[in-house]
Parts: sequence; C-alpha cells; structure tokens
Amino acid sequence: MSLLEVRGLTRHYGGVRAVHRLSFDLAAGEVCALIGPNGAGKSTCFALLSGLERPDAGRVRFAGTDITGLPPQRILRLGLARTFQIPAVFSSLDALDNVRAALLARAGLDFALLPRRLRPLADEARALLARVGLEELADRPAATLAYGDRKRLELAMALAHRPRLLLLDEPTAGLALGERFALVDELLAIVRAHRLAVLFTEHDMDVVFRIADRVMVMDHGELIAIGTPAEIRAHPRVRAVYLRGGALDDAETSP
Ligand SMILES: Nc1ncnc2c1ncn2[C@@H]1O[C@H](COP(=O)(O)OP(=O)(O)OP(=O)(O)O)[C@@H](O)[C@H]1O
Ligand SMILES: [Mg+2]
Repeated sequence: MSLLEVRGLTRHYGGVRAVHRLSFDLAAGEVCALIGPNGAGKSTCFALLSGLERPDAGRVRFAGTDITGLPPQRILRLGLARTFQIPAVFSSLDALDNVRAALLARAGLDFALLPRRLRPLADEARALLARVGLEELADRPAATLAYGDRKRLELAMALAHRPRLLLLDEPTAGLALGERFALVDELLAIVRAHRLAVLFTEHDMDVVFRIADRVMVMDHGELIAIGTPAEIRAHPRVRAVYLRGGALDDAETSP
C-alpha cells in the first residue's frame, strides 16, 4: 500500500492553474524530488498536501486516511510534516526552545501557556538538535543563527513531530555549494535511519540526482514526467520544457 496517494489534485488561482489534476503515489521510505521551473506549482502542491490550502478538486490519502481538506495540525499529527521555502522558526526563542515548542505542539500543548512543563523536554529537544548538528547552538536565539542553521533548526522541529513523511520545500536554497551537500547528506542519513519518506522540491539538479530515488517533474501545474533520475535526465519533454538539457547533463548522478 502507498503511504501517500494523490488523485486529481487541483488548485486554481483565478485563471492560473497552480496545480492541475495531479496524481501520484509515494511509498514508505521513498525519497522523491518534485522539480519544475519557477511557478510550476511545487509549493502549492505542498500547501495542498499539508492542509494550508484547500484543493478545488481531488483527494489525498495518507497512511490509509483521507486527509483532503483536514486542518494542518490534524495532518501533522497523522505524521506528515513539512518545512518551508523560507525557514519558519520562532526568531525570539533560542534553538532549544524552538524544538521544545514543536515537541509541545505534538502533545497538543501551547509553548506560551506552559513554561513549567518545558523542563522535561530538554533532553529530547537536545537529542533532536544533535541529530541536525546544532547541539552547540542550543542557546542561541533563532534570529541570530546563520541561514543554513535556521534550515537545520526547522528540520529538527519537523522531526519533533515524528513524521512518516517529510515535505521539504527547497531544503538547500540560499546555501553555499559546500554546505548544500553537507546538509543533504546529513538529511539523507536521518531519513534512512528513521525510514522516513521524503518529498522535496529543489532547483539544484546536482542535489536532486544525488539523493532522489525518483523524480517528478511539474510544469504549469501539471505533472509531465515521473521516473528514476536517469529516466528524467533522458526524458524528451523534460529536456524541452525544463532546463533545455544543459543543467541535466551537468549534474552528476552519483555522489
Ligand atoms: N496564493 C496565491 N494566489 C495567487 N496565485 C498564486 C498563489 N500561490 C501561488 N500562485 C501562483 O500559482 C503558480 C504556482 O506557484 P508555486 O508557488 O506553487 O510555484 P513553485 O513551483 O513553488 O515556484 P518556485 O520554484 O518559484 O518556488 C504561480 O503562477 C503562482 O504565481
Ligand atoms: Mg516554491
């Protein structure tokens, strides 16, 4: 059985077909890239899957439950977590408290209302920070963290929800080349260790071909190709519509 089943998912904004009749499946533990030019509909797809936007049509099943139109918190509790194209952290809180807030949210508790209940979660929060390489920066306000470290923090917060599926919207955007590979390699180790499924958007083809088991390509709201990295690289329509071939040829398939 698929972990995620998407059927005919559609969201239009006025005349813009942001997402149009999207259908695909994801298996447990699968690492899948969602690529496509700017405005192809990738972030809208994530917003629909995570409950931030309601679809005009179509269904989404996750782990056997129909999650179409459910509120984001319900979807998160079922084990579908996401990160954003721009990291979403509480900038005034330190890194440790950001993760504590996520742990409390998992338990249905509000960070601001329950300060005394935070203490027992410190160990779990520290373990999550260590998982993403931030243990040394636990006491730093999130606002003062480097951009890449804010991305790591957001990942730790997503992991706090013990997801079975992670949606990562451009996990390496804004990072320098060297840091990009370091982050995706760490990410992949975490994902494999927990047997998480991942659906991620990414503009860097080197990153896509390095970590994806499978690649899906969107253009103008529609899915135009699904396949292995090798199949996608050779796909005529992808080459024509997406990157005119060049960026696909330059990217390396193996680490
Ligand atoms: N809230 C909105 N209101 C109106 N139009 C929107 C809204 N959100 C997205 N769109 C439009 O839907 C289309 C898809 O946008 P989306 O952000 O999903 O693309 P994307 O593939 O994530 O692009 P990028 O690679 O630049 O992040 C675009 O034409 C965008 O302008
Ligand atoms: Mg986007």
